[in-house]
Amino acid sequence: MFRNTKKSVLFVRLGSMVLLIAMVASLISSKASAAATTLGAAAALSGRYFGTAISNGKLGDSAYTTLAAREFNMVTPENELKIDATEPQQNVFSFTAGDSILNWATSHGMKMRGHTLAWHSQQPSWMQSLTGTALRNAMINHIQKVMAHYVGKLAAWDVVNEAYADDGTQNRRQSNLQATGNDWIEVAFRTADAVEPGVRLCYNDYNIENWSAAKTQGVYNMVKDFKARGVPIDCVGFQTHFTGGSSLPSNFQTTLSSFAALGVDVALTEVDVTQANTTQYAGLTQACVNVARCIGITVWGVRDSDSWRSGEAPLLFDGSGNKKAAYTSVLNVLNSVGGGTPQPTATNTTAPTRTNTPIVGATATRTSTPVIDATPVRTNTPVATTSGGACSPVTSTVTAPFTFDGAGTFCWQIATVPSYVNNWNNNAVSINGTNYTNIYVGSSSLPAKINGFYYISYNGSFAWSHIEVR
Ligand code: XIL
Repeated sequence: MFRNTKKSVLFVRLGSMVLLIAMVASLISSKASAAATTLGAAAALSGRYFGTAISNGKLGDSAYTTLAAREFNMVTPENELKIDATEPQQNVFSFTAGDSILNWATSHGMKMRGHTLAWHSQQPSWMQSLTGTALRNAMINHIQKVMAHYVGKLAAWDVVNEAYADDGTQNRRQSNLQATGNDWIEVAFRTADAVEPGVRLCYNDYNIENWSAAKTQGVYNMVKDFKARGVPIDCVGFQTHFTGGSSLPSNFQTTLSSFAALGVDVALTEVDVTQANTTQYAGLTQACVNVARCIGITVWGVRDSDSWRSGEAPLLFDGSGNKKAAYTSVLNVLNSVGGGTPQPTATNTTAPTRTNTPIVGATATRTSTPVIDATPVRTNTPVATTSGGACSPVTSTVTAPFTFDGAGTFCWQIATVPSYVNNWNNNAVSINGTNYTNIYVGSSSLPAKINGFYYISYNGSFAWSHIEVR
C-alpha cells in the first residue's frame, strides 16, 4: 500500500508511535475494565473497607472461612469482645476467643474493629448487679484492661454502644450505666483515649440512620458537644439494621455527611436488611460512598445462616455461600465509585487526590492506576472510518489521539491543519472540513504551508503524530 520510501519511513514512524499509543490505550482500557470482583477489593478501590462480623465458633467451618477470607478485609467479632466475653468475672479477663479472631483476621490480611467496651447489654452478671461509683469504676477498669490487651492491634473500637433511647425523644436510654451519671459516655471516651489515642474511638448505635429521627438528633448533638469540648471521639458507627419497620431512609446520606461535617469518620457497622432487598443494599452502599468520610461498610455476618436474623435472610450470601442479588448490587456500587469505569478527560491532568482517610493498612492499596497526565488522553469519541478502501465520503472530522496500524487500505482525516501535506496518502483526507481523495504528488489543491499535527484514524483506532513529510 505504500508507494515510495517516504511512505515506508512514515510507516515505521507511525508504527512505533502506534505501539506507544496502543500501550497507553491498553492502559486506559484496562482501567476501564478494572472492576473488582470481591467486596473488599471493590471497596478498597476508593480507600474503603468492606467487613463482616465473624463468630469464633465458626472458624472451623472451611466454607465459612474461605468465603469470608475471599470477600472481606475487615472483621468485627460478633460477640467475642463484648463485656460478658472479655470479663466474665470481675477483673478476670478472657481474650482467647477475641485473640483467635484477631489471629485469623491478621493472617488473612484483614483489620479488626473492636466491639464493644461499654454497653447496657451483654454485661456479665457481676456488672449487672453493680451501681453508682462501683459500676463507673468497673467500666473504667474494663475499658483500660481490654484496650491494653489489644493496643496497637485494632483499627477501631466501639467505645460506647447503643446509649440512646428508642422512645421518639433525643434522650439517653435508661440503663445501669446511665444511672451512674450523664457523663458516663464522655468518661468512657476519655478513658479509652488515655489508653490508646491512636485507635479510632467510635460511638455505635442503631436507628440513627434517619436524619429526621429524634434519636439521630440526640446522638448528633452529643457528638457535636463532644467535638466542641474536646472529648476524644473519632467516629460514629451506624449499625444499619434495616427491618420492615426501619428500612433505608432516603436521607441516610444526609445523616452521614452531617455527622462527618462535625469532624468524625462515619461507618456502616452491622448491616443487614430484611430479605436482602437489593434496592436498600445498593442505596445504603451509595450513601456511604457518596460521603468522603464514610470509611467502610460491615455486614453483620457472612451467610444468611450465620445471621442473628437468619429467619429474614438479610445478608449477601445464602446458606450455601452463593452470592445473592444484593451482593451484585453492592459490588456494582463500589466498583462504580472505585475506579471500575474511569473516564479520562482532557481537563483531568492533575494527579487524583484522596478525599477520605485510608483505613485498611494491608488492603487499601490502590488497584486502579491513577490518571496519567503525561500521556495522550482521549478527548473525543472515536470516529470509525471504513476500512477496506471504501473510505469516502469522510463525514466527520476527528481530533486526537488515534492509533494507526498501517495495515490494509486506510482512510485518514486531518483535524488540524498540517504543515506539509504531501503526496503519499491514499483514499481520503479531510482538512478543515474539506475532503480530498486520492491525493498524490504535488497536491496543489491542498492548503500550503500548514503547520501542526496530523491526526490519523484507521478503522476506528486512533493515533497522533507530528508528521512532516516532504
Ligand atoms: C448480636 C449478635 O449478632 C448475636 O449473636 C447476639 O446474640 C446478640 O448480639 N447490635 C449490636 C450487636 O451492637 O452487638 C448485636 O449483635 C446486634 C445489635
